[in-house]
Amino acid sequence: MENGHAKYRVAVIGSGNWGSVASRLIASNTAKLPSFYDEVRMWVFEEILPTGKKLSESINEENENCKYLPGIKLGANVIADPDLESAVKDANMLVFVTPHQFVEGICKKLVGKLRPGAEAISLIKGMEVKMEGPCMISKLIADTLGINCCVLMGANIANEIAVEMFSEATIGYRKDKEVANRWANLFTTPYFLVSVAEDIEGVELCGTLKNIVAIAAGLVDGLDMGNNTKAAIMRIGLREMRAFSKLLFPSVRDNTFFESCGVADLITTCLGGRNRRVAEAFARNGGKRSFDELEAEMLHGQKLQGVSTAREVYEVLTYRGWQELFPLLSTVHEICIGQLPPTSIVEYSEHTPNLSIIGGPTPFY
Ligand SMILES: NC(=O)c1ccc[n+]([C@@H]2O[C@H](COP(=O)([O-])OP(=O)(O)OC[C@H]3O[C@@H](n4cnc5c(N)ncnc54)[C@H](O)[C@@H]3O)[C@@H](O)[C@H]2O)c1
Repeated sequence: MENGHAKYRVAVIGSGNWGSVASRLIASNTAKLPSFYDEVRMWVFEEILPTGKKLSESINEENENCKYLPGIKLGANVIADPDLESAVKDANMLVFVTPHQFVEGICKKLVGKLRPGAEAISLIKGMEVKMEGPCMISKLIADTLGINCCVLMGANIANEIAVEMFSEATIGYRKDKEVANRWANLFTTPYFLVSVAEDIEGVELCGTLKNIVAIAAGLVDGLDMGNNTKAAIMRIGLREMRAFSKLLFPSVRDNTFFESCGVADLITTCLGGRNRRVAEAFARNGGKRSFDELEAEMLHGQKLQGVSTAREVYEVLTYRGWQELFPLLSTVHEICIGQLPPTSIVEYSEHTPNLSIIGGPTPFY
């Protein structure tokens, strides 16, 4: 507390492409806004660079993440810290932004190490599938650490935000609008407009599921199909995203799909994201080179989320007997594991699902 007003200290957990851009964006605001301490600690999963130098040291010396965001200064108030506990110990606002497969391990290390009253936000797209059912990443963070966790999702290809091109994002929250507004304050800049929506599951599922549709869009590109086909795939995908979200969480709102986290993120990811790009290469190779191989070759340490999310969603569909209802989501996984050829991505006419159980207006695609 300072002058009777709460003052907040921010730590960012993750320093990949989006983690670095998010740190830069946040730090530009903490340097200006009186309710935040200037310094933003960014936890770095330590790596040794080809030069032999540690990534965290290089970031602090150059004020630049030469591996995941080369050529962009992060702001003098961003401090890279390879020690997770030390990075979070003074913070009361925690931004989680790592590939989703690492979150559970990170959270386990943080149990009992956080400041009382700390709040979290997740920028992570993906879900964990447990025996008892799917678990959204924000819930995993909230349950493991016993803290409130919002989400921020949107049409946000990190490299474009790094050079301050205009875009929008959506913060999803459960009950506490004041906390959501505080997060919006931290992230909003003239080129990054953030709105809040009281639909945490809807916002998070949009961000998670669109990566599967992006794989489908990339397959269509790799098969040299036209814009009509890609638009059809995006429409079918959006419809399945909404249906799946509402089946899992009846509280999910239709309006959420019209926010930046919904249709806008779907469009940008299907036009420009890494899931699309690698899926295009997969189709061009006739499905003969695996996604793992292409990811390693094309992304240089960055992670694909769509393939693992497709597998996780498929597990949910199989477990609940919903496969027939979601031909696109199911087909993407079956193509990813080589069970179906890439061309199956446009073979829907034989199995028109009946979406009437979730109030779909027409069973035809
Ligand atoms: N990049 C984007 O444009 C973008 C945009 C919006 C959301 N996202 C989401 O943000 C999240 C983070 O993506 P990103 O783009 O910042 O990462 P990235 O794919 O660029 O980089 C991978 C990161 O994972 C780290 N890492 C590797 N092994 C690890 C381990 N064992 N434990 C912990 N960390 C490890 C690497 O050091 C690196 O920081 C993802 O959920 C992604 O879907 C990304």
